Amino acid sequence: MPNSILQPLKWRGNENGYLQFIDQTALPLKKIYISCHNEAILYSAIRSLKVRGAPLIGVAGAFGVCLIAKNIRTPNPTGFLKELRLKSERLASARPTAVNLSWAIKRMLAVAQKGSFRNAAALKESLLIEAKRILSEDIAMCEAIGRYGSKLIKNNSNILTHCNAGTLATGRFGTALSAIYAAKQQGKKIHVYVDETRPLLQGARLTAWELTQAGINCTLICDNMAGPLMAQGKIDCVIVGADRIARNGDTANKTGTYGLSVLAKAHKIPFYVAAPVSTFDLKTKSGRDIVIEHREEKEVLEFAGRRTAPKEMKAYNPAFDVTPAKFITAFITNNGIRRQIKTKI
Ligand code: MRU
Repeated sequence: MPNSILQPLKWRGNENGYLQFIDQTALPLKKIYISCHNEAILYSAIRSLKVRGAPLIGVAGAFGVCLIAKNIRTPNPTGFLKELRLKSERLASARPTAVNLSWAIKRMLAVAQKGSFRNAAALKESLLIEAKRILSEDIAMCEAIGRYGSKLIKNNSNILTHCNAGTLATGRFGTALSAIYAAKQQGKKIHVYVDETRPLLQGARLTAWELTQAGINCTLICDNMAGPLMAQGKIDCVIVGADRIARNGDTANKTGTYGLSVLAKAHKIPFYVAAPVSTFDLKTKSGRDIVIEHREEKEVLEFAGRRTAPKEMKAYNPAFDVTPAKFITAFITNNGIRRQIKTKI
């Protein structure tokens, strides 16, 4: 079992309670917990990456539906459901690429639409049960990913990872990092190269912090050091997470992942994508159909909040890229290792 004591998000209280999560934009300098009582605050926390990582925004979205339900005042059941659906759909639009957000919200709305509830209180109770189930399923899936993924990690390995696909990005344990935690727990000697992951430095701020906390031997590198390290024979495998995996296996993940996959192919290094089944989107045919989120130019024009580019400069800032399936050696899922995607994962 991978080792992680961190819990990035929790629901406090009963169905009239609130959501509490770590503000990931403050890490690693400060560990701040935000208490979130309404969906507007959650929407902006997801947009601004206070809560981030595909599986975690799915879980956050599920609890977001509980917040929406809690705050609806309409007594009429049809009006209640309509408001719940409209506000939930808006929440689902906070970040378009990670399929987990819309997946979890759809699952919550199905609970609301299917049941015939005595009253609003009973509906809110059922929604909270479902959101908690989504969280505990995510934790279990991440744990299973760790179990399977660790089999691919040999003793004395140097692993490269990009962005943060760890506990902070999930209910617990992570996806790519879960495999690393499990390998370490099995007594394997491992070392991780952490890409800093420009522009928002999820690697330098979050993965570096998480791995250090877990006592994993790791070294931070600039994103453009991955190629030279591979050429020097210093990387044994690459393990990354995913935001959406299309039916043909094309995978959207943090910008920079595609380049790593091409480099790994050129150097004959295994390139693994770790993801729970909630990240597989069988309705999307290929990478060409994945909507890529474009973020504010200032994330690129600045570094750690300080302008680095000239005033008149513009920037191009897609948050994700798409790695073609042909560059992926295998998918590490909660159901096992998949060399190829079939219609059933
Ligand atoms: O923009 P972010 O920080 O939410 O991007 C996160 C990633 O790209 C992760 O690799 C992905 O969500 C998988 S997390 C288990």
